[in-house]
Amino acid sequence: MRALVCKEFGPPENLIVEDVPEPVAGPGQILISVAAACINFTDVLSTGGRSQLARELPMIPGVEAAGIVKALGAGVAGFSVGDRVLCQLMHGGFAERVVANADEVAKIPDFMTMEDASAFYIASFTTWHALFSRGALKAGESLLVLGAGSGAGLAAIQMGRAVGARVVGAASSEEKLELARDAGADATFVYPRDMTDVTAQKQLTSDLLELATSSRSVTIGQINSVRNAAGFDVVYDGVGGGYAEAAARALAWEGRYLSVGFAAGVPKLSIGPLLFKNATLHGIQPSEPETRHPARIADAVSQMFAWYEEGKLRPRITETWPLEQAQKGFRQLLDRKAMGRVVVTMT
Ligand SMILES: NC(=O)c1ccc[n+]([C@@H]2O[C@H](COP(=O)([O-])OP(=O)(O)OC[C@H]3O[C@@H](n4cnc5c(N)ncnc54)[C@H](OP(=O)(O)O)[C@@H]3O)[C@@H](O)[C@H]2O)c1
Repeated sequence: MRALVCKEFGPPENLIVEDVPEPVAGPGQILISVAAACINFTDVLSTGGRSQLARELPMIPGVEAAGIVKALGAGVAGFSVGDRVLCQLMHGGFAERVVANADEVAKIPDFMTMEDASAFYIASFTTWHALFSRGALKAGESLLVLGAGSGAGLAAIQMGRAVGARVVGAASSEEKLELARDAGADATFVYPRDMTDVTAQKQLTSDLLELATSSRSVTIGQINSVRNAAGFDVVYDGVGGGYAEAAARALAWEGRYLSVGFAAGVPKLSIGPLLFKNATLHGIQPSEPETRHPARIADAVSQMFAWYEEGKLRPRITETWPLEQAQKGFRQLLDRKAMGRVVVTMT
């Protein structure tokens, strides 16, 4: 079968398409004939040698895909050959066939296209886990989404709107914010592409606070109202770097900061802005509840599919590349040019 192979960590141009042996489904696994696979930022990190997870070479990247069930390993129930399925993977998605663990495979509803299915699960479930399991986002609260034009960021905007939050999207270009507004952002803000400087960070905090609407008058002990309690109830941050500090300072009283990813670098976040507002910082790792609370995952997935059917949660696919040109899609993410989702098709 043909597959995209990483033999040496480095830029996307290192990735090559070649024939490799087809994988075999072991016990509890499903062999899938892949139709499409989405490029996630983690693929850029892993093939670039920057992943926090140990990766062995040669490696076929690809952490989510959609296709048709071709064979079932021993003990797999609930699936049949020919089913349309989406799956989450450790790697291997950019290939004509992939083997996935059955508990990380879901049937694609009839109303969802194969390409949308390939770009749906990771951004949606990560965001569901972030906003609701960790962030406890509620109707009427305010949500700030950094990286608002990214695959994950657009899911956050759509889910925030779906539950009745007021959503502000911030991103590095007007083009990306157009997508954010299309996804339902109530207000948007362009931030600078470089946020290493403290003055720029302070300016960003003040610009963001102008857009925040939650403002609670809070009394701490004998001290009068804390005037800077204005801010966002929830910050969804898939960007990190210098943006994190600026956004954390724009949290409201009892705000929740959701650290989803570090595309701009691992942030050095000071605790001060959290302490003064009874705010909390949450690291977002959706794999943990996936293994521990299967019933909650089932609830989340059925809600996500329902929102898709209602048109409230749709991946925005802006580029599609054939497998032979997948490295061009990787290049878009690496160069910060990708908007919404970039998908690779096998046929
Ligand atoms: N915790 C988890 O399990 C989990 C799961 C899924 C995704 N994530 C994280 O969520 C984030 C978004 O993921 P995604 O797959 O949606 O990726 P993506 O579409 O490529 O989005 C990454 C965003 O990061 C921003 N960015 C800032 N500096 C960048 C740089 N130097 N290079 C590239 N992008 C940069 C860009 O927005 P601006 O240009 O507007 O700043 C870009 O839209 C990533 O950090 C990813 O690792 C985490």
